Amino acid sequence: MKKETQHKREGFSSSIGVIAAVLGSAVGLGNIWKFPYVTGANGGAAFILVYLICVALVGLPVMLSEHLIGRHTKANAVGAFKALQPRRPWFLVGGAGVLSAFLIMAFYTSVAGWVYAYIFKAAGGALLTAKPEDTTLVFNKLVSGVGEPLFWQVFVLLVTGSIIMAGVTKGIERVTKLLMPLLFLLLVIIDIRSLTLSGAGAGLSFLFKPDFSKITVSVILAALGLAFFKLSVGMGTMITYGSYVDKNENLPKMAIKVALADTLVSLMAGIAVFPAVFAFGFTPDQGPKLLFVIIPAVFNSMPFGRVFMVLFFVLTAIAATGAMLSLLEVPIAFLTEQYQWTRRKATLLTILGIGLLGSTATLSNSIFATVTVFGKTFFDFYDFATSNVLLPLGGIFIALFVGWQWGYVKVKQELSNQGQLANDGLARVYLFLVKYIVPIAIAVVLFTGLK
Ligand code: PFF
Repeated sequence: MKKETQHKREGFSSSIGVIAAVLGSAVGLGNIWKFPYVTGANGGAAFILVYLICVALVGLPVMLSEHLIGRHTKANAVGAFKALQPRRPWFLVGGAGVLSAFLIMAFYTSVAGWVYAYIFKAAGGALLTAKPEDTTLVFNKLVSGVGEPLFWQVFVLLVTGSIIMAGVTKGIERVTKLLMPLLFLLLVIIDIRSLTLSGAGAGLSFLFKPDFSKITVSVILAALGLAFFKLSVGMGTMITYGSYVDKNENLPKMAIKVALADTLVSLMAGIAVFPAVFAFGFTPDQGPKLLFVIIPAVFNSMPFGRVFMVLFFVLTAIAATGAMLSLLEVPIAFLTEQYQWTRRKATLLTILGIGLLGSTATLSNSIFATVTVFGKTFFDFYDFATSNVLLPLGGIFIALFVGWQWGYVKVKQELSNQGQLANDGLARVYLFLVKYIVPIAIAVVLFTGLK
């Protein structure tokens, strides 16, 4: 135990390892489960357009800001702000991030549990039907149970906790590096099948022909929230990961690559889901069950569907686990560095806390189905409160911090690797965005959207 308390900071061992890990945080249930259903609920193509704007103008600058803060301070979400501004309460931004990590994990582990369960359902033959009505029954039975979804949630927490205890470099890097390309390949296969179903065209129009009358303030808030959730920004995850990044890494380039790759995966998931939704005569506004109902039906209309389906849920489970590793790393880096807890103690107590809170999300479809907070079930409340409130708020303060507090010269030095990179023009655009566009845009959307 002694060794662990000395906190020699581990880092990612290579440039590819860094991108894999940051991408491993971004890509997850957000792409495969959330992006399709939120797009479906908010009208399709017009929503996607707003989403893309949010990623480029808000999400990307916030991601870069977090990487800069993290790499410069080599500290956790709270410690980083304390290091840069010891006398002001900026560290509260990091504190809100730790809280967000708990709330997101509460429902994320629940959905990840469904995915893990689906691996076995797919393998065992429970999902061998091309009728979405039948797959709906399988899904409803799972989520309205008590023991089964709780079992899977605990299982997910134990798996993720064990990887975390193995340490940053070894654990995170090894797992994520290997599997992203495989997931991508499988998405290509499902896309082809979905696109060749008869009646698929309507799904493509839904995805790519915008109907601008669908855009309302709450649609914009949903797009903004999804951008934060997707890129894992607004809560210090990318500060924490940035703290493990080498000083010679080209941070702006990395952030752009990650945002592009992440968006591509989301769109591929959309192309897997929507043509099939329409081909099977379903409606796109099914909510959180969309993926779990549609995807099995797609697989069952292709040769070797059962094998591919198992593989798909295995890879989705792995992507979800990569994202959860980064979520857990926020409270754990905080507890080990600020309070000198051992990594093991921090991990065990964190997953215990998440397990307790998370069970209320999991039971939102059964025991707690009628219990509401601000008119939402526990599950929906944790989701809404983080994506649509806490993360955008965090984004405002992170942008304000870099734009107005940290100091122009210091930011430019960090951005250019102490003058090694010639990126003056980019620095100007970036600083303009974080000074004005990001905070004002978020504030307006949040304020009007929440009213
Ligand atoms: N970006 C992840 C996804 O889209 O699944 C979710 C996530 C991970 C959100 C880490 C926030 C975070 F800090």
